[in-house]
Amino acid sequence: MKTTEIRIIVYEYQSIDELSGDDQNLLQNARRITATAYAPYSGFHVGAAVLLENGTIVTGNNQENSAYPSGLCAERVAMFYANANYPEASVKAIAISAAKNAVLVNEPVKPCGSCRQALAEAEVRFGTPIRIILDGQDSIMVLNGVESLLPLSFSKKDL
Ligand code: THU
Repeated sequence: MKTTEIRIIVYEYQSIDELSGDDQNLLQNARRITATAYAPYSGFHVGAAVLLENGTIVTGNNQENSAYPSGLCAERVAMFYANANYPEASVKAIAISAAKNAVLVNEPVKPCGSCRQALAEAEVRFGTPIRIILDGQDSIMVLNGVESLLPLSFSKKDL
């Protein structure tokens, strides 16, 4: 029997002011787009901003549906729009913010499993790590790649 320990590094910041200018800008875009999320069922408004290698920022938010599973998370709305419209541009970073009753959540928002898988696909597709910024009142977490969110992931190499 062999034991393997998998370690992840999480960078934590106390406020948005501690981030680099580029990260601040990306996170401000994510915060801004939470306002127009369509989330009448959960009341949980999520915003995502994707930074592409060409400098373009694409934003998206969660889109719910009365048939619940037909809705889609903010991360995938933004990521799929980016990949559809800029299929050659690698994804450098994604910032994610969330608000309840128009107030930023306390703990950093964590992407769901399906969104982690979609982020992993974009990393493999373009062959570059995606920086991930998770927003919260108490702290802002930054991860330097999807491996830190979804270790031991399934990808095309497993097919
Ligand atoms: N949601 C996101 O948009 N992203 C996440 O990473 C977690 C959850 C949305 C889905 C649903 O509209 C609402 O938040 C509550 O789960």
